[in-house]
Amino acid sequence: MCPPQHFTVEYAINPWMDTTAPVDAALAVEQWDLLRTTLVDLGHTVHVLDPVAGLPDMVYAANGAFSVDGTVYGARFRYPQRADEAVAHRAFYQDPAWRFADPEHVNEGEGDFAYLPGAHGGVILAGYGFRTEPAAHAEAQEMLGRPVVSLRLVDPAFYHLDTALAALDDHNVTYYPAAFSASAQRVLAQLFPDAVLADRADAEAFGLNLVSDGRHVVLNTEAIAMAEKVRAAGYHPVHVELTELKRGGGSVKCAVAELRR
Ligand code: ARG
Repeated sequence: MCPPQHFTVEYAINPWMDTTAPVDAALAVEQWDLLRTTLVDLGHTVHVLDPVAGLPDMVYAANGAFSVDGTVYGARFRYPQRADEAVAHRAFYQDPAWRFADPEHVNEGEGDFAYLPGAHGGVILAGYGFRTEPAAHAEAQEMLGRPVVSLRLVDPAFYHLDTALAALDDHNVTYYPAAFSASAQRVLAQLFPDAVLADRADAEAFGLNLVSDGRHVVLNTEAIAMAEKVRAAGYHPVHVELTELKRGGGSVKCAVAELRR
């Protein structure tokens, strides 16, 4: 995670960003810290990246890389405003515990990649259409040695895979079907017949932008109906208030890069 010390909305690269609406950076830090302590209280280790002035979107740490079984596929951001974030993430993984693979193609890390270790022997789901290039999906498969399933995103409001789909545990997902092309919806229905389906209101509340440890599902307070859906599916929803991060077009998942070793 990376604290939103320098968080602002000074450019708009997704439909949620309104450069005329002021951001409360102090409140953003407070809310972010509650997310961090919530994860710690659930028993997880959280490493914190140093925020860099001039990189206001760095709080969305999920976009900086994608790791599977100790191999890290680095990010290459679509927009120049975020390009330098990749450098900070790369530095974090310069540790013998990780193998780091430099990307050639545009991809925004966990924003567009999800890993389900228990589904079909270990499968990577990958989004494209707005940020990550399809060529990066093939590159990720080559670097990570797991099948990558390409899913086309069709709604600009849900520009990253993690705004429209989330892993609930090692083998199941939840998603908002209409965020995907008709063919991608068929693929998801085939691979995940027991998926928890979300609706537009859930997605607009950033209810799919969640982090799950397979038991606890951490999601923002606005996503009330979504919390009931995950509860009905047997998980424990845990709410965190993240109103400020929504102004940049993100929520819980965007703020957390998961480390898979
Ligand atoms: N303002 C950021 C962008 O548009 C938000 C990124 C949200 N992160 C995510 N994992 N969806 O790039």
